[in-house]
Amino acid sequence: MRIVSGTRPTGKLHIGHYVGILEHWVRLQNEGNETFFFVVDWHALTTDYANTQMIPQNTFEVIKTFLACGLDPEKSVLFVQSALKETAELTLLFSMFTSVARLERVPTYKDMKQELSDRDLSNMGFLMYPILQAADILVLLGEAVPVGEDQLSHLELSREIARRFNYLYEIDLFPEPKSLLAPVTKLLGTDGRKMSKSYRNVIEIDSSPEQLKQAILPMITDPARKRKTDPGNPEKCPVWSYHKAFQIPPDQAQWIIEGCTKAKIGCIECKKALIQNLTETLSPIWSKLSEINLRPSIIHQTIEEGNRKAKIIARQTLEKVRTAMHLMS
Ligand code: TRP
Ligand code: SF4
Repeated sequence: MRIVSGTRPTGKLHIGHYVGILEHWVRLQNEGNETFFFVVDWHALTTDYANTQMIPQNTFEVIKTFLACGLDPEKSVLFVQSALKETAELTLLFSMFTSVARLERVPTYKDMKQELSDRDLSNMGFLMYPILQAADILVLLGEAVPVGEDQLSHLELSREIARRFNYLYEIDLFPEPKSLLAPVTKLLGTDGRKMSKSYRNVIEIDSSPEQLKQAILPMITDPARKRKTDPGNPEKCPVWSYHKAFQIPPDQAQWIIEGCTKAKIGCIECKKALIQNLTETLSPIWSKLSEINLRPSIIHQTIEEGNRKAKIIARQTLEKVRTAMHLMS
């Protein structure tokens, strides 16, 4: 199956990105799918058009993290959105038959406008965001898209656009891309709120062991456990959700459930076990990161090679699109 997905150039990625996104992508890659993963620098402009100076550095950082987490340029095409000018052309063409009212009904449009009320989001680019996303997917003829819940409405629109195009121009060109929800639920931040850089409650993938400790030891727990002698409920505790996300071994899970509900272990012990498990999961990623840091040219090579491969497909798609639409060039 051809699988495509994009992520914004946010710079350093956190462990929520790892369990929610990257682990899933690596699995899809290793299951023998044809995988394309890209950094969506144009999408970053839709909300941040006035602050573009960090885009290159943040894009390199994301691609570096892709590589360190196990995305392999031999198996996946890793590239940068803005390298495919065909995507911009396809966005223009899709915008001809997509109504403004339809775009205004996309739930993330209203939500984000509310959430980022300090910014001016009356720009066309922001309204067209989901068309651009549809073009990202369809320019590569993507069949499935691993995304989070928040993106389901965008995928719905992508399918509508694919159907509409095939119908209007009487061609069976675009597949209707389905969404693949990540198997892990979103990790909350260390304070129990949404994990977000602006809340300073994230744990970055490249944290040092010392930073892991500093982030995890003060984490909030089940409020019922004020003292070690108070029994708790792991399901009410963000520490436990981290344990589950990082696939705690069954015997340890048993020890925590028992120890927590019967007040036999303290939260510090539980957190120390989490630090240990996280260190084990992240260690191979840390060593790959330091390898890449010694040879950063590998990031540039990966992007160049990925852009080249993605362009071949994008060009072919647009040739078919132009012919189907009777465009003269
Ligand atoms: N909108 C996605 C997000 O905010 C990013 C994105 C852009 C994307 N183009 C895509 C995801 C194409 C999947 C496929 O996370
Ligand atoms: Fe949370 Fe662990 Fe404390 Fe239970 S023992 S409240 S799961 S940190």
